[in-house]
Amino acid sequence: MIQAIKGTRDILPEESGKWQFAEATARRVFRRYGFREIRTPIFESTELFSRGIGEGTDIVSKEMYTFSDRGGRSLTLRPENTAPVVRAAIEHNLFQRADSERLYYIGPMFRYERPQKGRMRQFHQIGVEVFGSVEPAADAEIIEMSTVFLRELGITGTDLAVNSVGCESCRPVYRERLRGFLAPRLDELCPDCRRRYQENPLRILDCKAGCRRFLDGSPTLLETLDAPCRDHFEAVRRCLEHLSVPHRVEPHLVRGLDYYMRTTFEVLTANLGAQNALLGGGRYDRLVEDLGGPSVPGIGFASGLDRLILSLPAGAGEATAGPDFFVAVQGPGSFDQALRLVQELRRRGAWAEMDSNPGRSLRAQTRRADQLRARHILFLGEEETRKGELTVRQMEGGTQWEVPASDLERLMGEVSRG
Ligand code: HAM
Repeated sequence: MIQAIKGTRDILPEESGKWQFAEATARRVFRRYGFREIRTPIFESTELFSRGIGEGTDIVSKEMYTFSDRGGRSLTLRPENTAPVVRAAIEHNLFQRADSERLYYIGPMFRYERPQKGRMRQFHQIGVEVFGSVEPAADAEIIEMSTVFLRELGITGTDLAVNSVGCESCRPVYRERLRGFLAPRLDELCPDCRRRYQENPLRILDCKAGCRRFLDGSPTLLETLDAPCRDHFEAVRRCLEHLSVPHRVEPHLVRGLDYYMRTTFEVLTANLGAQNALLGGGRYDRLVEDLGGPSVPGIGFASGLDRLILSLPAGAGEATAGPDFFVAVQGPGSFDQALRLVQELRRRGAWAEMDSNPGRSLRAQTRRADQLRARHILFLGEEETRKGELTVRQMEGGTQWEVPASDLERLMGEVSRG
């Protein structure tokens, strides 16, 4: 038997209501902040990610789904969508808008990670990117938006961690200090971190193999920020306080992508075990230029939809009602009339169903209406057909009444009032 690939899964109809709820909430909230949707391809040239995310990152060095197509091009299934959105923005010159360009996306991403609860190889992100502003108020605005998004999903008890990773002039200072601090314990680091020690010791702060235990008392990024980066971070924090967004400074928060500078942030939850990041993001003021575009700053975040779904409160996005009408027929003459009745009800916007087998017993049809949790049954028997009427039964309470079959307007009206 052929089964779904490890690390992927099917989202079945019982669950898809939750996904639609989360996506609709994102679209509704993001619109209030002026975001418009962008959809980019799910595969891109490999170089976009190796240059954009950074060769030394876990994502690029061991998690990408990379393959050659029949024309010999190296392609990669997108492991994230900031680099693709930047590529598209450069390609289509989206930086022309006088104010800042604000884009959001919803879709699948691919990383070859060890699957576990909340961690998939094909997972889904809802993300946003803002281009054109270096102002701390822009950082605070999208961080605030991320908290509104979670609140409107009904997700509570989250923890917002913020940090600044500085810029290319102050980060080297930190790198050296961290190397100095870790030098006496270099032999105890995991093999990956020994390599990271040489290439980019900041990655050690993100080690999943336990090297973080060596960081107690280590120097922090915040201590080494230069004056402009420190002022920027303080202004972001002041703005968050002004907007009443509770947050905590996490001096070791670096994030696993190289394009970040200055502000980084994550929202964590206690309910997901090890995979506790519901969303993460930050500022990337050099990325557009690094990928060949104009000098345009950017900031954004992405949220793992799979993790959001696991964190939704009970009942969120679950369908509560069934069809507006189930049309039950009795007798050969009624079936054809019922087909047209269902068609007409649907044209008027109602959810209407009937059994497509003309021979089904009335009992079986009523049982089906029950299973579907239909709100009303419309009976169309010999008697009704002759009188040109329909018998309406409200399933809840069992009230029953008659309406002229020609007056669907009235039927729809009565039903929407009921
Ligand atoms: P990221 O932190 O790599 O950032 O991913 C963002 C979110 O995607 C995570 O917080 C998590 O919720 C979810 N996620 C990541 N990997 C997996 C996985 N294997 N399974 C399930 N969920 C996962 C980025 O991707 C950046 N592009 C975010 C960004 C946008 N920064 C600026 N703009």
